[in-house]
Amino acid sequence: MDIWLKKLLWPGHWIKAARYSGGGTPSRSQADPQLQLYDRILQTDFLHYGYFDDPHMPGDEISLADIKRAQRRYAELIIGQMSIPSGGEVLDVGCGMGGLLAMITERGYRVTGLTPDKNQIAYIKEKYDKTPLIHARFQDIVANDHKKKYDSVIFSESLQYIDLPTALRHVDIILKEKGELIIVDYFRVDEAHEKSGHVWPDFEAEIKKRGFAVRFKKDITDNIRPTLTFAFYWSTHIGLPLYEFIKLKLEHKHPGKYYFVRELFEKWDGKIESNIKTIDPEYFCRQKRYYLLKLTREA
Ligand SMILES: C[S@@+](CC[C@H](N)C(=O)[O-])C[C@H]1O[C@@H](n2cnc3c(N)ncnc32)[C@H](O)[C@@H]1O
Repeated sequence: MDIWLKKLLWPGHWIKAARYSGGGTPSRSQADPQLQLYDRILQTDFLHYGYFDDPHMPGDEISLADIKRAQRRYAELIIGQMSIPSGGEVLDVGCGMGGLLAMITERGYRVTGLTPDKNQIAYIKEKYDKTPLIHARFQDIVANDHKKKYDSVIFSESLQYIDLPTALRHVDIILKEKGELIIVDYFRVDEAHEKSGHVWPDFEAEIKKRGFAVRFKKDITDNIRPTLTFAFYWSTHIGLPLYEFIKLKLEHKHPGKYYFVRELFEKWDGKIESNIKTIDPEYFCRQKRYYLLKLTREA
């Protein structure tokens, strides 16, 4: 009898399995497996979509090297929006693997990174050991402890993870009077199939409420699109066929085992279909807009 079947038939393993599932998994923001996967693939210290100067590259012609270049370009665009004096204090909210922290430091600013993700914190501590870090969700910080501390607060594809009213309330407290707020992220402009990204009119209402005004706005949806095209192409042309192949192999080689896990595969089929839909570039661009924004307080 093989180990797999032994495990299934032995009641002790059922008790263990129940214990594992009762233990709960860490929350996604504490250790995001999806972001960890992107980092392992890209190894750029960036976790965002990147910015392509040529938005029309076909999916099968885009290379990982192109995406890496685009990610650096995206970071350069953020830095290009910074107009604070050298030595100014910057907070990078949702700093990911620290790529932007390093570039900002090179420009002579003093930057602090904030992320709730323990893997990201450990990585940055090891690689950029001099950079101050805050290990927390942005909505959980005590904003008054950082009152009027920052000249610049940056959200690079991280605002979408944070409750909007709380995010702006905290920014209002921690940002100096003449400080700047830079946001690069996507927003929902239509009824979206999945709920990531803030609703643009809600964002407009919230910044108005907090006395901020948009000083610069660039729609970069077309420029981030090649990354989606790349991900969609690989998912549909490589990932999905590979998944179907593994299923078929299991069904043919181990029909008994396949019988036990068939329902699990059926559940995954639905999930995979839904996940692929979210990276379908046509679909994404119909429902969402990706903006580079710079805000300051209203005069
Ligand atoms: C898509 S990644 C972008 C990372 C990085 N800013 C970049 O451009 O490469 C989103 C980041 O937001 C962080 N994040 C998720 N939830 C958060 C929260 N509630 N508060 C602050 N950061 C959060 C993630 O851990 C991750 O670092």
